[in-house]
Amino acid sequence: MGFRAFVVDNQGDRVGTEVTELADEELGDEPVLIDVAWSALNFKDTMLVQPHNRVARRNPLIPGIDLAGTVISSDDPGGAVGETVLAHGYDLGVAHHGGFAERARIPAEWIVPLPDGVSPRHAVTVGTAGFTAALSLERLQANGVRPDGGPVLVTGASGGVGSMAVSLLAQHGYEVVASTGKEAEHPYLRALGATAVIGRGDLMGDEGRVLGPERWAAAVDCVGGETLAAVIRSLRYGGSVAASGLTGGNAFSSTVYPFIVRGVALLGVDSVLTPIEERRAVWANVRSDFPEETVAAMVAEEVGLEGIDGALAAMAAARVRGRVLVEPSR
Ligand SMILES: NC(=O)c1ccc[n+]([C@@H]2O[C@H](COP(=O)([O-])OP(=O)(O)OC[C@H]3O[C@@H](n4cnc5c(N)ncnc54)[C@H](OP(=O)(O)O)[C@@H]3O)[C@@H](O)[C@H]2O)c1
Repeated sequence: MGFRAFVVDNQGDRVGTEVTELADEELGDEPVLIDVAWSALNFKDTMLVQPHNRVARRNPLIPGIDLAGTVISSDDPGGAVGETVLAHGYDLGVAHHGGFAERARIPAEWIVPLPDGVSPRHAVTVGTAGFTAALSLERLQANGVRPDGGPVLVTGASGGVGSMAVSLLAQHGYEVVASTGKEAEHPYLRALGATAVIGRGDLMGDEGRVLGPERWAAAVDCVGGETLAAVIRSLRYGGSVAASGLTGGNAFSSTVYPFIVRGVALLGVDSVLTPIEERRAVWANVRSDFPEETVAAMVAEEVGLEGIDGALAAMAAARVRGRVLVEPSR
């Protein structure tokens, strides 16, 4: 049988994309075959279509690091036929065909069975973005950050990880300050639970200094670059930042002073290789951490496979708010 897929063909200087019909055999021989109901766009997908990127590790590739749907067949007891499941990260959409297709074939160890009452659409809306926000909060909590400790900054707040982090922190009783480059999205971020919204530029201005004013008890940073450097300079004594992203650049400069004078902590967050048991434990809380009606408000757009090119271009230009969902059968 055949199925439709969005395929990226990377020829070095030129990266082509097309929606095409593939034979089931092209999915390889992993044991669990999934009828993909929904996938979602993430910033990583925008990197995959850049010439000479070092993100894609097979060619041609079906991208899509998030997918959810129903198990059609399984040669492994870890995947039961008829079960609704989610998968994200690991090699999905990078070194293994991902979610931008009507079908996916994956190892049973990548599967998260959806908790009762969670639909595939709800699950991919949360997806890697919400999972990364949840891991960021876990890192901060493990480092002693508490709701009564003072304001928590979220950078890149209108994006996928940022929107999820604003909502999650507010849900857990934190005072959230959202930083965004999109003036039009201030009301959106307040509706997600931010008590204050500031512009990207409000974080900058003290680049020549080794320490800035002590503003934030903690931060969730998915921007990186000089934004992360500015966050580190402006954390309060004993504060911490959970860093996950690089939309603002992958390099930053800092002195050691924030670390040795203010005792701040830089906590790295990785969603890709999180062990499956830890992953399933995070997903067990999805209904309370990311209620369906809350995350539904973050859906900017739903597209079919033909709409992915345009949506990726908008995301790469930072014109997207929240989440873009992909329905392969559309
Ligand atoms: N570590 C992990 O496991 C992990 C997991 C998921 C994502 N990530 C990374 O986290 C980042 C966010 O991912 P995402 O899927 O949420 O992306 P996204 O939806 O595209 O959101 C990114 C946001 O970053 C801000 N931004 C974009 N360009 C910027 C620039 N030049 N300078 C400053 N801010 C900029 C924008 O927010 P505003 O307009 O509101 O400022 C944008 O909406 C990406 O770098 C992604 O690779 C890492």
